[in-house]
Amino acid sequence: MRVAWMSVLGLAVVTSAAIACSSSGSDGGSSGSSGSTSKDGGSGGPKDADVGDGGIGNNTDLTILPDRAYTGFDNGAHTFAVPISIAGAKADLKLVASDPSMVDIKTATNTNPEAAGTDEKWFLVTTKKAGSVTLTATSGGTSVEAKLTIAQYTSARWDTGNTRYHNAAAGGDPPCAQCHEKAGGADHSPLTLSPVDDESAKTVITAGIINGIPVNKGNHKWEATPSELDGLVTYLRALPPRGIAATK
Ligand code: HEC
Repeated sequence: MRVAWMSVLGLAVVTSAAIACSSSGSDGGSSGSSGSTSKDGGSGGPKDADVGDGGIGNNTDLTILPDRAYTGFDNGAHTFAVPISIAGAKADLKLVASDPSMVDIKTATNTNPEAAGTDEKWFLVTTKKAGSVTLTATSGGTSVEAKLTIAQYTSARWDTGNTRYHNAAAGGDPPCAQCHEKAGGADHSPLTLSPVDDESAKTVITAGIINGIPVNKGNHKWEATPSELDGLVTYLRALPPRGIAATK
């Protein structure tokens, strides 16, 4: 799963060598090198670095992903939740919010194949209010932080998004569901989309570019009105993160 974070975060985060090294180190070589998603295809550099960094011995570093995440709140009409993964943690791991009234934090499991064999611990963070909140993971005397931005949405936005998602555009472009709801359809749940802000998420839909990386070989330029785009982003943020289930 860290592979999926990397596919979105990859090139955005790689500019920070420290983050790239510590997260790849904690991944272990197997998870990094088994990453074969199409979006990872062009980023041979970071994957090679994974292998090289293994010898530095920083694979006990505590890391949190994504360290910046975007979600929403529509006064309870829909559930907005983001998964958070932590690598390099001991059994004393805790994840707490700077303002506990804003989010509900539960431990979680990740049943996606990419997560198998990693040491990542998963949490599901569900929103209770709009605003900004810092999540702090602490283990073995170290802490790492993630910033969560919770946008205020209306449930009408979700309705508009749901309609476009399941119907063709005025000009004839296909329903999103035609590809994304079929078995094995590309994941755009918060598991992959939460590291991306709303504007960038719209660019993925209309221009097929996510943080500079082409989606579906750039063949992802869909017609949507501005209000449909607002709605689609709201709809996608309210999808259940794929393969993530709260355990308590
Ligand atoms: C013809 C099939 C098709 C249609 C129609 C389609 N998509 Fe996609 N979409 C894809 C594929 C394939 C990918 C992933 C490609 C990849 O991983 O490189 C993708 C990726 C995405 C992503 C990025 C996922 C991520 O987080 O990495 C988002 C967001 C997305 N689609 C939203 C939409 C929305 C919203 C619509 C409707 C307006 C839509 N798509 C219509 C095929 C489609």
